[in-house]
Amino acid sequence: MSYLPSPSRYDSMIYRRCGFSGIKLPAISLGLWHNFGHVDEYDNSRQMLLKAFDMGITHFDLANNYGPPPGSAEENFGKVMKNDLRPWRDEMIISSKAGYLMWPGPYGEWGSKKYLVASLDQSLKRMGLDYVDIFYHHRPDPDTPLEETMAALSLIVRQGKALYAGISNYPAELALEASRILRRLGTPCLIHQPSYSMFNRWVEDGLLNTLEQEGIGCIAFSPLAQGMLTNRYLHGIPKDSRAAKPHGFLQEDRVLQMMPKIKKLNEIAVKRNQSLAQMAIAWLLKDARITSVLVGASSVQQLKDNLGALDNIAFTAEELLAIDEILAR
Ligand SMILES: NC(=O)c1ccc[n+]([C@@H]2O[C@H](COP(=O)([O-])OP(=O)(O)OC[C@H]3O[C@@H](n4cnc5c(N)ncnc54)[C@H](OP(=O)(O)O)[C@@H]3O)[C@@H](O)[C@H]2O)c1
Repeated sequence: MSYLPSPSRYDSMIYRRCGFSGIKLPAISLGLWHNFGHVDEYDNSRQMLLKAFDMGITHFDLANNYGPPPGSAEENFGKVMKNDLRPWRDEMIISSKAGYLMWPGPYGEWGSKKYLVASLDQSLKRMGLDYVDIFYHHRPDPDTPLEETMAALSLIVRQGKALYAGISNYPAELALEASRILRRLGTPCLIHQPSYSMFNRWVEDGLLNTLEQEGIGCIAFSPLAQGMLTNRYLHGIPKDSRAAKPHGFLQEDRVLQMMPKIKKLNEIAVKRNQSLAQMAIAWLLKDARITSVLVGASSVQQLKDNLGALDNIAFTAEELLAIDEILAR
């Protein structure tokens, strides 16, 4: 049946300005790293994308290598675009990235102009798009001069293949350097995409301040620590969970190691009348420097649960202290 988006899709989402730019992003965005590849059930992936759009999620985050197999998340996304979402392209912010291994030989990963330009061309083909809204350099390259990588991003924007440039996984000092180069090239950096969650707070040690000063937005990836900061593992490791999947990036050992903290945090979430996932998302959004929280999901139900976070993103000083104490233990 042909898809028609919900007329009330913009009623309850919060939109936050991305740095000093003209772009607003939804407080919750959807990432396609897991659960959108050819190994996954296409209809479930499609339902999640359509439901997300119905709930005001306008931003969808991809990368060349998402799948598995690599490239297949972009192919599936392209199929949903073609069959369902095409008429609403102008209501969507679609991003992709290059940086990790995509094809053999010396030009299939890292940060050369050769790799970035070729990779985005491939991504556009897979998604059936003329342009992406944001194109990221996915990870710093220790060998390629930063000038070359940033010049490649700037070139891509000038060519109209991307509207904005972004960086991901860059530490504070390198992000600052990248930002200065991009500004000089006339292509200011729109956004940085770092990992950030209650279990992974490295960005608090300088990066968030740098981004604020530079007027760069911040979209936090793996906000639920890949599912650990949810009720997913409270009673063991479910067979269909990321930790149990052979291609998942979450190890069972890690989940078991974190379990005492997960249970304690869940007690606070219950007192707040939130699910643990909702509290983990709200905890990030309490900071105005976070433009958007980039969640993953394996079902429409999870997505709906996550959106419920927006009902309460305020914390008392006591709650924040109690959370800090659990995390410090
Ligand atoms: N730039 C980078 O280097 C980079 C790296 C990683 C990720 N990312 C981006 O960030 C996005 C999100 O990363 P992520 O998938 O690791 O994020 P996440 O939100 O931390 O974890 C998502 C997983 O948590 C579980 N989950 C989500 N909502 C839930 C709920 N309400 N209740 C119970 N379980 C729930 C699901 O696990 P199950 O699948 O087990 O159900 C889901 O797959 C990616 O898709 C990608 O776009 C970027």
